[in-house]
Amino acid sequence: MIDHKIRIGVLISGGGSNLQALMDSCDAGKLNGRIVFAGSDNPGAAGLARAREKGIPVFSVNYSDIIKGVRQGSITPPDDFDFNDSYSKQGLFGKDADPEKVRIFLESRAACESELLRHIFSYEFDVLALAGFMRTLSPYFIDRVNTDPFLPRIMNIHPALLPSFPGVDGYGDTFRYGCRVAGCTVHFVDYGEDSGPIIGQKSFQILPEDTLESVKSKGLEYEWQLYPECVQLFAEGRLTVVKEKYELKNGKAHERKIVRISNN
Ligand code: GRF
Repeated sequence: MIDHKIRIGVLISGGGSNLQALMDSCDAGKLNGRIVFAGSDNPGAAGLARAREKGIPVFSVNYSDIIKGVRQGSITPPDDFDFNDSYSKQGLFGKDADPEKVRIFLESRAACESELLRHIFSYEFDVLALAGFMRTLSPYFIDRVNTDPFLPRIMNIHPALLPSFPGVDGYGDTFRYGCRVAGCTVHFVDYGEDSGPIIGQKSFQILPEDTLESVKSKGLEYEWQLYPECVQLFAEGRLTVVKEKYELKNGKAHERKIVRISNN
């Protein structure tokens, strides 16, 4: 049970409206926490200015430059990077994936992430909130942040009702599919793509007069409510991850880690 003001680290890539919602909720006392840093994979991320204005420490790790360096051989992965460990855990690659591409992907991510770890561990934080952070985190990073298997501490907000429409364009994919309902999801991060245990979701109707733009802007407003609410549940010590096992009618076993939310 965490009983102090929770210390929240935030990672962004773009405009940072979710970062703003978290900062505002802390200021309003709706979220019993404070933002201890805002970091980005992109030095030009506009949202960093929002944190700077509030006197919150900011940093960036230039992913594009590091990835280029790894491709060209001028940057090598960190000494403690274990390719086989990351490869066996990250279920993102099909069995026909080009081994060279997989190697570059995992090595370059580890090189970026060792810089990211150096920055974030220079602060003390309880939870790391990805708020429009558009990079996949690899096991190298996740395992160094999540040390308690029953209380992961990396959260993400995704612009769709997972498990539908993982990936970079949740509202676009929902709208183009012809769904009648859209929404957003906050989940813990695991090794897959937007596949971790779900903490909270909000949904809304897609009306005949809606456009992709109107769906995106409605969705964002729901995100700004949902994310602080989910981080507050963490702050109240109400989240645990449990492994549920079911036997399906066809006799097959179904196993999934899910989030349990305890009462106050
Ligand atoms: C949000 O829609 C978030 O769900 C998605 O990227 C967008 C980021 O928006 N992952 P912002 O940078 O918080 O304004």
